[in-house]
Amino acid sequence: MSDVLLKVENLVKYFKTNAGKVKAVDGVSFEVYAGETLALVGESGCGKSTLGRLILRLIEPTNGKVLLEGEDLGKLSGGQLRKKRSELQIIFQDPFSSLDPHFTVGEIIAEPLRAMGIGKKEREARVLELLDQVGLAPETYFRYPHQFSGGQRQRIGIARALATSPKLIVCDEPVSALDVSIQAQILNLLKQLQKEHGLTYLFISHDLAVVRYISSRVCVMFLGQLCEICSTQEAYDHPLHPYTRMLIDSAPEPDPEFHREDRLLLQGEMPSPIHPPAGCRFCTRCPFATDECRQTPPEMKDYGGGHLCACHHPLLAE
Ligand SMILES: Nc1ncnc2c1ncn2[C@@H]1O[C@H](COP(=O)(O)OP(=O)(O)OP(=O)(O)O)[C@@H](O)[C@H]1O
Ligand SMILES: [Mg+2]
Repeated sequence: MSDVLLKVENLVKYFKTNAGKVKAVDGVSFEVYAGETLALVGESGCGKSTLGRLILRLIEPTNGKVLLEGEDLGKLSGGQLRKKRSELQIIFQDPFSSLDPHFTVGEIIAEPLRAMGIGKKEREARVLELLDQVGLAPETYFRYPHQFSGGQRQRIGIARALATSPKLIVCDEPVSALDVSIQAQILNLLKQLQKEHGLTYLFISHDLAVVRYISSRVCVMFLGQLCEICSTQEAYDHPLHPYTRMLIDSAPEPDPEFHREDRLLLQGEMPSPIHPPAGCRFCTRCPFATDECRQTPPEMKDYGGGHLCACHHPLLAE
């Protein structure tokens, strides 16, 4: 079995709003193994970005723990946390708003190094090395983000995330804002960098084609909770949770021949994260829901081979 790099234990984040408490993340547990790409998928608003930000401790959890190599990040003092932060980085969806337009590309990429107290000379050398690694010319150093295209800006974001040689990179929809032709280039760059530097990715996406291409395992999230964790292959071939099956069956498929005949399409409205359904959160949209589903939240069960699912009526083969 591979080493566990990151462990998330019963993580909870409620946002207080005027309308009530938004249960954005509500009791999420999973592990990320060193060197893997674990995808986090689910519809808009299910809590993916909140979970990513909790892991980086950009926001404080309401409850629960994040352990990096067994160390509880919540127990670290300010100084210790700052140091640990260099081991966790994030790449954002929008390479336009995530890069400060007032700084040169060199300054932007060097910022995490400056925060670590690394001197100017060493920073400059490292930035040139990083530009080369992400396929940008050395001249890029003195230019500004607005002078670049979306794909090139995402390369700048990747260089910044790589600067401190982090152990884990949370990629939050890193290609969603890019043209399809550019998406493949950035995904291939991420794959290549992973191979060269042994990187570990938590890859947040709602695009299943991207997930299938980049990740070996997947966590499926619905309304603040995980409903299934398994290999990407299993999610496609033998999904256990109806939501996983419906998410896959509802995804746009360029070649209709690939659609299975007995497709289960997603239906119904997304319930409110302020007043989620009692019982299983998916029960109002699930064609198999029973009274048990409406009353009792299902627990995450292990079906063997690292396949976990939280459902009272999993799609087991007859
Ligand atoms: N700072 C905040 N204050 C109040 N509610 C918030 C805040 N941040 C997120 N939320 C709410 O928490 C829920 C989860 O949001 P989040 O951004 O994590 O979803 P997401 O899965 O990343 O969605 P998307 O796919 O659209 O990026 C949503 O209902 C959102 O409105
Ligand atoms: Mg998001």
